Amino acid sequence: MVSARKFVLRYIVVISCLVASATAGVQFSSLPRTLAVTVTIISSAPMAPNVAMAGRDQLVVSWWVNESSSPAVSEYKNVEVKLCFAPVSQVDRRWRKSNNDLKKDKTCQFDMSEQLPYSSNIKNNTITWTVQRDVPKGTYFVRAYAFNASGSEVAYGQSTNKNKTSDLFMVEPISGRHASLDIASVVCAAFSVVSLFAFFLVEKWSAQKAAGQKK
Ligand SMILES: *[C@@H]1O[C@H](CO)[C@@H](O)[C@H](O)[C@H]1NC(C)=O
Ligand SMILES: *[C@@H]1O[C@H](CO)[C@@H](O)[C@H](O)[C@H]1NC(C)=O
Ligand SMILES: *[C@@H]1O[C@H](CO)[C@@H](O)[C@H](O)[C@H]1NC(C)=O
Ligand SMILES: *[C@@H]1O[C@H](CO)[C@@H](O)[C@H](O)[C@H]1NC(C)=O
Repeated sequence: MVSARKFVLRYIVVISCLVASATAGVQFSSLPRTLAVTVTIISSAPMAPNVAMAGRDQLVVSWWVNESSSPAVSEYKNVEVKLCFAPVSQVDRRWRKSNNDLKKDKTCQFDMSEQLPYSSNIKNNTITWTVQRDVPKGTYFVRAYAFNASGSEVAYGQSTNKNKTSDLFMVEPISGRHASLDIASVVCAAFSVVSLFAFFLVEKWSAQKAAGQKK
């Protein structure tokens, strides 16, 4: 007989897995690239080309529907623009890792707009965003997602090529205080590993206890 505790633990695992798969997001690879996106840095005191200073400089993003990519515009309800880490700033940082499941994807962590209503009458859309102070030093690009009426991503566009190697830009902090944010992320990642380990210890412990009770 399996102990009641072990039985319960097992079902918690099974149920969590079912919940996880039921809430899986849209696959990025399934999205057509029908939006075109450009980004320009507006700097009051340019440091170097393609460098924006966090907390001071602005990014002007233009996006439009690329008519020659056969876009299914009738589905497009909203569009959201995000700032995303380029591969070079994701290396060895699990907390920025790309995932084809958009619910788990950590490439684009900074919202540059809310979900803005899409209008087919506007042929070219522009948003201006001041690079927030909490954006860490790194290499970035901009991506836009089109959402349908039920809030699922249905198309995208980005300011770089498919491999995310061209037209990238850098964000530099004005002060050096951004290291603390990276440290916080490392601590969070370590904490999740520790809690997983604790979970297995509890299960092992209750299995041992159950075996002990049988004797
Ligand atoms: C528009 O879409 C076509 C076909 O997919 C593609 O070849 C072209 O590069 C795109 N243009 C822009 C500006 O993204
Ligand atoms: C939209 O505006 C941007 C920035 O001015 C420009 O580079 C781009 O070519 C425009 N797109 C279209 C389709 O006119
Ligand atoms: C939105 O897209 C999702 C995923 O493709 C689909 O399941 C859903 O039915 C769509 N909703 C509408 C209103 O089209
Ligand atoms: C994109 O990346 C793939 C796989 O890493 C590579 O085979 C391909 O040559 C790259 N394409 C470009 C245009 O860099």
